[in-house]
Amino acid sequence: MPRVVCLLAFVVLTAPAFGRDAVELAVDTARPGMKLDRHVFGQFAEDLGTGLYGGIWVGRSSGIPNTRGIRNDVAGALRDLHIPDVRWPGGCYADEYHWQDGIGPASKRRPQPNFNWGGVIESNEFGTDEFMDFVDQIGSEAYISVNVGSGTVKEAADWMQYMTADAGTAWGRERAANGHAAPYHVAMLGLGNESWDCGGHMSAAEYSFQLKEYAKFVHNWNKQQAMQKVAVGPGGAKTDYTEAVMKTWKDNTDWDWSIDGMSLHSYTVGKWPPSWPATGFGEKDYAQVLQETLKMDELIQSHSAIMDQYDPQKKMSLVVDEWGAWYAPTKGSNPSFLQQQNSQRDAVLAALNLNIFSRHADRVRHANIAQMVNVLQAMILTDGPKMVLTPTYHVFRMYVPFQDATLLPVTYEAGRYHVDEFDLPRLDAIAARALDGRIVIAVTNLDAKNPATVDIRLEGVSTKAVLGESLAAATVDSVNTFEEPRKVVPKAISATVKNGRLTLTVPPASVTVVKTQ
Ligand code: AHR
Repeated sequence: MPRVVCLLAFVVLTAPAFGRDAVELAVDTARPGMKLDRHVFGQFAEDLGTGLYGGIWVGRSSGIPNTRGIRNDVAGALRDLHIPDVRWPGGCYADEYHWQDGIGPASKRRPQPNFNWGGVIESNEFGTDEFMDFVDQIGSEAYISVNVGSGTVKEAADWMQYMTADAGTAWGRERAANGHAAPYHVAMLGLGNESWDCGGHMSAAEYSFQLKEYAKFVHNWNKQQAMQKVAVGPGGAKTDYTEAVMKTWKDNTDWDWSIDGMSLHSYTVGKWPPSWPATGFGEKDYAQVLQETLKMDELIQSHSAIMDQYDPQKKMSLVVDEWGAWYAPTKGSNPSFLQQQNSQRDAVLAALNLNIFSRHADRVRHANIAQMVNVLQAMILTDGPKMVLTPTYHVFRMYVPFQDATLLPVTYEAGRYHVDEFDLPRLDAIAARALDGRIVIAVTNLDAKNPATVDIRLEGVSTKAVLGESLAAATVDSVNTFEEPRKVVPKAISATVKNGRLTLTVPPASVTVVKTQ
């Protein structure tokens, strides 16, 4: 890291919060709340642009170090995120994907055009067995989206048989012949994708009809595993799918099939087509994007309110399986490949959304950021053999202790952060008791100009060391590049809880996560 950046980071970490009093923040350790399901930290890897080909899959004969065709550098970095599930093959691509094109020896793979994403020809070298190998290599699980738009119920049922049945069945035998005797574990099954749009332009009633067929006939054959079925739900604020899917679910609770979740897609995008720049922006653009992303909270509230009418016991999960920032594509890139840089703003944006999900943990038990590598708000960018970790990657790694943690109530009054017409909360914080019993606290400072001193009250915690990391940057549009991969990286911090109090000074536009030891 260049010396000047180091110095800046040091200054903001230790400087007082000029002109503002310390924020009193209380963590109620005696009132454990909901579990924050680890599946909220899921990811999405569509066959789109260089998200798979180049980003994850390079093929066995590549000069880029790989394990059975999967990049070692990318898989290694992803392993550190403890990703609970990966959604594949789409997105829009799922409704044009025919899985039989992507199984068997290389000579049998059938290249097909990717109509949604630039019309490029996909070799189908990366198919079901390669995807399952990938999730295994990164210690994750499969969330498969079946083709409802241009496929058939039988095609989807056969795919599930290929993946989850034993070798006594036709497709199980085929899988064994392809080198995988034991059935795979499919943790989640998405029944279509955006069926109101690229997934088939279906009305809510048309989709509900399809949903019943797919939910009933696409079986999980592997009785060793639980598999959740997720219906297509709303995109943004429209509620027709929410009503129709929940009604279908309720009407059919006595039948021999069910669904476990309904998806919600919502990008931080502004007007369509995406035009906000991913780099080279100022504080006002930063505040505008964050104000937009905070709408996720009311969106979840409004869909949850409808779900509550049909499902007051909250059996169905609201699965936010596409979320994140969608900006103008990187100049010079193929616009259909949805490549964009990822800045400190995206780190703050990611933390805010994860915090929102945690406040709706009773209903939001699963989410997938879009997307994993090289596409939209990615964790990782690659260029040939080069790889760089984005600021969003660092937030996901810092938040690992929150996976399956028990949330603890947090109260604070930090005031507002204003930039021109944009009016935002100044701070955002969550706390939880991690699986190892320790307390973990995340504080996001939205204010791009001022650090904040946070005086944290941790009732019942006597003297304890606290360790953590703080992710800040010289400017809100700071990014990591292949040339300068460490411009935005977390810095280790430590503090001590004395008589139940802990003081942290968090830099402007930063994300800080600390844990008691
Ligand atoms: O993530 C990119 C695209 O956004 C997905 O393919 C689609 O589901 C959504 O519209």
